Amino acid sequence: MKYFITGGCGFIGTNIAISFNKNHYKNLLILDNLSKPTAKKNLIFLKKKKISFKKIDIAKSKLKVEKLIRKYKPKAIFHLAGQVAMSSSIHNPINDFDGNVISTLNILEAIRKFSNKTILIYSSTNKVYGDLENYKYTEKKTRYIIKNDFKGFTEKNDLDFKSPYACSKGSADQYVLDYSRVYNLNTVVFRHSSVYGGRQFFTYDQGWVGWFCAQAIKNKIFFKSKFSVTGNGKQVRDIVHIDDITKLYKDSIKNFKNIKGKAYNIGGGITNSLSVIELINFLERKLKIKLSYYNIENRPYDQKIFISDNNKIYKDLKWRPVINYNKGLNQILHWIKKSKIYKDV
Ligand SMILES: NC(=O)c1ccc[n+]([C@@H]2O[C@H](COP(=O)([O-])OP(=O)(O)OC[C@H]3O[C@@H](n4cnc5c(N)ncnc54)[C@H](O)[C@@H]3O)[C@@H](O)[C@H]2O)c1
Repeated sequence: MKYFITGGCGFIGTNIAISFNKNHYKNLLILDNLSKPTAKKNLIFLKKKKISFKKIDIAKSKLKVEKLIRKYKPKAIFHLAGQVAMSSSIHNPINDFDGNVISTLNILEAIRKFSNKTILIYSSTNKVYGDLENYKYTEKKTRYIIKNDFKGFTEKNDLDFKSPYACSKGSADQYVLDYSRVYNLNTVVFRHSSVYGGRQFFTYDQGWVGWFCAQAIKNKIFFKSKFSVTGNGKQVRDIVHIDDITKLYKDSIKNFKNIKGKAYNIGGGITNSLSVIELINFLERKLKIKLSYYNIENRPYDQKIFISDNNKIYKDLKWRPVINYNKGLNQILHWIKKSKIYKDV
């Protein structure tokens, strides 16, 4: 097996797997504990394509992880397995720590001991920068803004872990970088903004773009229902389509020496930034409907704005997102209708 995808039955992992040329499917091994209830749906999909799968809990099975890495000495591991929701981390911080920190250490140690040429790509998050309340924000009609010449947050922002989720993702992020410094391993960290696209079985907690798209479709063809929006809905994120992300992960392997041991902000950038209100407005125009929602309390430590400055990754890898949000949202709306998952939200 040349490539391992941990958390490979999740949204990003499944998309990375199927983005490989069909001839390479036999070189992929998906590792997942199926802890996410919808992971089984992606597993059925992957099995139809004859992609190999092993059920394993990366956090609880140190020896099994070592055995697999020792046996196959994979060229690359896309490490996507983890506890992914902020609110779950607050309810169960130990589970969050195990899922994000212990699982990552298990992979790092196995590589260090048995396969030190393996490339490890870690999916971190923009939450490592905290709530960014040290910036000055102005509230406009549909969104917060910073200042007119703002081009996005760079990797030079201070790390500031707030919430168990940020602590665990941030710790894993730092271990991944440190194993490159101390042990010269081939590791890299991608700090993702909101990724959206097909095969994401979003929940109230995770995958806000898909969640609102599904709410809108449900309202259009199923029945009218009000949904909640946290805070005032003016919080802004730069959304990035999954096809741009799968390209990034594969480009990374081809030119790994340029990015070894570094951390990168990865997002849709300023031109793909949207507030919740702006997404709702877009959906109303697109589907020719009127949506109704009510506001609830803000999420703890929610950033008013997160927009990635993608310049560092562009400089090192020539990667930048090419799917604009108009095209990307049309695609996800199509997928939600076809898969009928709007019935589940
Ligand atoms: N999707 C985004 O917008 C986004 C943004 C920032 C960071 N990330 C990070 O990217 C990674 C992938 O995200 P996703 O959206 O595909 O999430 P996802 O929830 O769809 O997939 C995660 C998968 O990991 C599996 N898993 C969880 N714990 C495991 C363990 N201990 N052992 C084995 N498998 C385990 C789950 O069953 C699931 O299939 C996550 O680490 C997440 O924190 C994603």
